[in-house]
Amino acid sequence: MKRVSLTQYLVEEQRQHNTIPAELRLLIEVVARACKTISHSVGKGALGEVLGTAETENIQGEVQKKLDIISNEILLEANEWGGHLAAMASEEMESIHPIPNRYPKGEYMLLFDPLDGSSNIDVNVSIGTIFSVLKAPEGMAQPTEADFMQAGTRQVAAGYAVYGPQTMLVLTTGNGVNCFTLDREMGSWVLTQRDIQIPATTKEFAINMSNQRHWHAPVQRYISELLAGDTGPRGTNFNMRWIASMVADVHRILNRGGIFMYPADTRDTSMPGKLRLMYEANPMAFIVEQAGGAATDGKQRIMDIQPHKLHQRVPVFLGSRDEVAVVTGYHTEG
Ligand code: AHG
Ligand code: MN
Ligand code: MN
Repeated sequence: MKRVSLTQYLVEEQRQHNTIPAELRLLIEVVARACKTISHSVGKGALGEVLGTAETENIQGEVQKKLDIISNEILLEANEWGGHLAAMASEEMESIHPIPNRYPKGEYMLLFDPLDGSSNIDVNVSIGTIFSVLKAPEGMAQPTEADFMQAGTRQVAAGYAVYGPQTMLVLTTGNGVNCFTLDREMGSWVLTQRDIQIPATTKEFAINMSNQRHWHAPVQRYISELLAGDTGPRGTNFNMRWIASMVADVHRILNRGGIFMYPADTRDTSMPGKLRLMYEANPMAFIVEQAGGAATDGKQRIMDIQPHKLHQRVPVFLGSRDEVAVVTGYHTEG
């Protein structure tokens, strides 16, 4: 089999479709390199003294794991000097991170969840990194948070790395979804799946069932119908999976279909759901839509939401489009 490297893929994609100019290619390659470094740290585990909790909390009030901080540092350092970015933003940093004055600035802005699925780090279960790329607004001088407040439809690229039995990079630049596997001996990313398509129908769902008593009526109805199986209105049995790493759950769905949900509930209405719009929901929505799936907040397309703050949360329903349509319909009807 002829191997196609990430670099070769990016160059050829630019030649054919003109979607990956040199600066964006550099950006993607630098992020991919950073993910390789994170993968190496993840793989060392206790031997690299990277497991366990740091003594700090992030802006979301979550206790940070050592790997949350290490991964954030790796992504910041890797992306500062290349001249392709104007600013970055991260789950692990309260404010945006403009490129320091000692480096040239570029026209892109990068957002990331450096380490997704933190609760799985110490138990050796798949975790990941999620990223989203926006363009800096025309004429932007000193970047501010307001410059990042762009709907998901404005993303020029999005992707994730999943650190599982294999390390993989899944990428879209708006022309389908492709997957690269890290060749650990060679240290290179090799194209292993082209143009991934999510099956439109599915019999598999993912939700944290422990929150059931807090759900709103449309989610109660939808899940109870799935659980009723072939004795209920759906007339068929559904299976359930919940990895508690969005990256790993989405990766399963890309490969064999499924629906992933993290709904808002009746607890704290100022925090609708758990997932963050800018660096979790939007990039995953872009990838899922590019693979023929759908992503809504229950009422509208996630990528159409106009953001109002960097760390805002959003309910998420994504995956196989027929199931996303059913649960979205339950929210919007009547
Ligand atoms: P993070 O580790 O970046 O904070 O994200 C964890 C998220 C997401 O990856 C996962 O789907 C969800 O939290 C799991 O939530 P529960 O703990 O409620 O299962
Ligand atoms: Mn996350
Ligand atoms: Mn995270």
